[in-house]
Amino acid sequence: MTTITKLESKVKELSKLLGALKELNAAIDLQDISQGILDQMVMISEAKGALLWVLEKEKNLIVAKASYGIPIDSLPKQTLSDGEGIVGKVMMTGKAELITDTESVIDSSVAYPSLATTILTVPLQAKGQVLGAIQLMDKENGSHFDTRDRELAVILAEQSALAMYNSQMYDELYKMFVSMIRMLAEALDARDPLTKGHSERVARYAWLIGKRMKLDDQMCFELYQAAILHDIGKIGIEDRILRKSTGLTESEYELMKTHTEIGARILSAIQPNRFFQKSIDTAMLHHERMDGSGYPKQLKGEEIPLFARIVGVADAFDAMTTDRTYSEGMSVRDAAAELIRCKGSLFDTDIVDIFIEILENCSYDLRLFPNTDDM
Ligand SMILES: [Fe+2]
Repeated sequence: MTTITKLESKVKELSKLLGALKELNAAIDLQDISQGILDQMVMISEAKGALLWVLEKEKNLIVAKASYGIPIDSLPKQTLSDGEGIVGKVMMTGKAELITDTESVIDSSVAYPSLATTILTVPLQAKGQVLGAIQLMDKENGSHFDTRDRELAVILAEQSALAMYNSQMYDELYKMFVSMIRMLAEALDARDPLTKGHSERVARYAWLIGKRMKLDDQMCFELYQAAILHDIGKIGIEDRILRKSTGLTESEYELMKTHTEIGARILSAIQPNRFFQKSIDTAMLHHERMDGSGYPKQLKGEEIPLFARIVGVADAFDAMTTDRTYSEGMSVRDAAAELIRCKGSLFDTDIVDIFIEILENCSYDLRLFPNTDDM
């Protein structure tokens, strides 16, 4: 190979590598990232088959997450214990392993030992942690992997592992974020056993309204979050009022109404604020009514933000259909009739119509009400 051709092929390799990295860093979903990493690795190494293994820290297992040219369910083993096989060894030492004589190696983690003649296994490690490994099997053109392939694969694996690390961090943060929201709602339930489960049900109704209005997934998630937290301010209402089993006096009712402002204040404390702005507004404004008769700001019509209008309908419906110590809940049909009677004056007409459609679809039987499992 002349120096120019060598240089040209190096430039080609590098530009492929750069393209691969750009694509990887744009993805955030862990499964997308795993498959993306593997596809890029295959493209660069020109491997015939490939596997991506991920360490599941909590279970202490190494799991096959993505594959190329070999269906994962056809593997003799899709899960390895920590330290098992070549994959386990590479993950333990953090060093790539190139095997050119597979017949001499019996390894449970190799998919098709009899078919693969060379196997290149590289670790995926970032920030001092081993996250997994990639195995490349045989070259497309029939030649063997060499040390040049190993070098290239190691560089790409290092960069890929960073993308994977970021995605895992994002995943963990997201889970923490969702559980924090649930924890706040549970804290309210614990203070107010009379309305236990109210926040979760309102959130479910609101989310279904959002879905039917064709709000996008992100908006539906934010709506669910805002709805589950809508009454969080009740945490700040005294027990003698919050837990009162008979009707409230006028002054007690005035105090109860302050849960809207208290809720907005509590949620304003969460940083970064912009993630919670819609929840803050919903906590503050879910008792506003279309004709301006609500509280605390007496907003009218579309001055009331969309989420607060949706939660207003869901909240009123749940309040009407839930048994209280001092009153039995209305039937679903009666509550639906009440929403229809008050649409336009108290509630947003379109939102009521959408909610009634949802109720009709489950024949007014809340046990058949669609759930939010696909959230
Ligand atoms: Fe409320």
